[in-house]
Amino acid sequence: MQFERRRILTGIRPTGPLHVGHYAGALENWIKLQREYDCYFLIADYQVSDFASDLPRVRNAVREVALDWLAAGLDPSGASFVIESMVPEHAELMTWLAWYTPIGMLERNPTLKAEMEAIGDPGDAATKGKSVSVAFYIYPMMQAANILLFRSHLVPVGEDQLPHVELTREVARRFNRDVKAIFPEPEALTGRVPRLVGIDGGAKMSKSLGNTIDLTDSAETVARKVRGMYAGPPRGAKESGTVAENPVFAYLDAFDPDVAQVMHLKQRYERTGVSNKELKDRLTRVLNELLEPMRDRRAKYDANPSLVRDALEQGTQRARAIAKETMAMVRDALDLDYFRKR
Ligand code: TRP
Repeated sequence: MQFERRRILTGIRPTGPLHVGHYAGALENWIKLQREYDCYFLIADYQVSDFASDLPRVRNAVREVALDWLAAGLDPSGASFVIESMVPEHAELMTWLAWYTPIGMLERNPTLKAEMEAIGDPGDAATKGKSVSVAFYIYPMMQAANILLFRSHLVPVGEDQLPHVELTREVARRFNRDVKAIFPEPEALTGRVPRLVGIDGGAKMSKSLGNTIDLTDSAETVARKVRGMYAGPPRGAKESGTVAENPVFAYLDAFDPDVAQVMHLKQRYERTGVSNKELKDRLTRVLNELLEPMRDRRAKYDANPSLVRDALEQGTQRARAIAKETMAMVRDALDLDYFRKR
């Protein structure tokens, strides 16, 4: 018999099309890992309560994310694409895990705290955090259920998600100790580029900040966005500059496969100066070389939408089988069979 491959679960919230920050921070890593691990890629549509008043956006984003994944090179015949709400065992498991989740772990969770503050009007003490739903507050618990439902070993995530994986480990430990040892304690794995700056120089590339380069952008759009990109403090074309102050270099570090050339450019930049035009022309070429194969694959799936649907349906079916298996173990461990004849 073949050894069971170790399992990965990771996910994303369906809020809109993906950008190159998602690629460098996550997708690139997932594409490599999908060959070595049994992978489940989750579209977490239970976890977008901040878009409760715009359901069409969420439903549409589920498909957009799947299409972006296929275009980026995730292979649905090996890896499973999973729609969270179509595996309702997530909700069932979360209910039981809630018994073993200390409230303090949510209260102290730095990522959750920051996000809740951003949802309320940060400038207005009276409304601060007021519009946060219960669903939002408990999403790290749902995330723990996502991970544990698959009895996953590894969770590739961005840096900001580490507190959630830590919470998952703690809940798994408690369940294993107090009920039955069912869950592996999952390890987090961060990618090569944990955070990409926005094209405006802002700390993070983010759709809501409007500072992204999207995987769907055309070659012309990429060129235009890069031309307009923030490139550090004003500087004459022949003046030297500081690499760390120019985000174009952060992008070259993230995307330019020719590491030696980039190092050479940096040296020239600090010694004698390199024009922003030269840097940006290079970045435009590098990004378009990355995105071009994605554009080709996307065209294929765009012309054949049933392939996207099939990927989602087949992946979700495979996920459901594991979910049922885990829930049978959990129900048995909790001795939930009330109607058994004794
Ligand atoms: N919360 C994650 C994010 O915003 C998405 C996510 C949902 C996730 N469920 C998950 C990530 C399970 C890893 C594992 O990016």
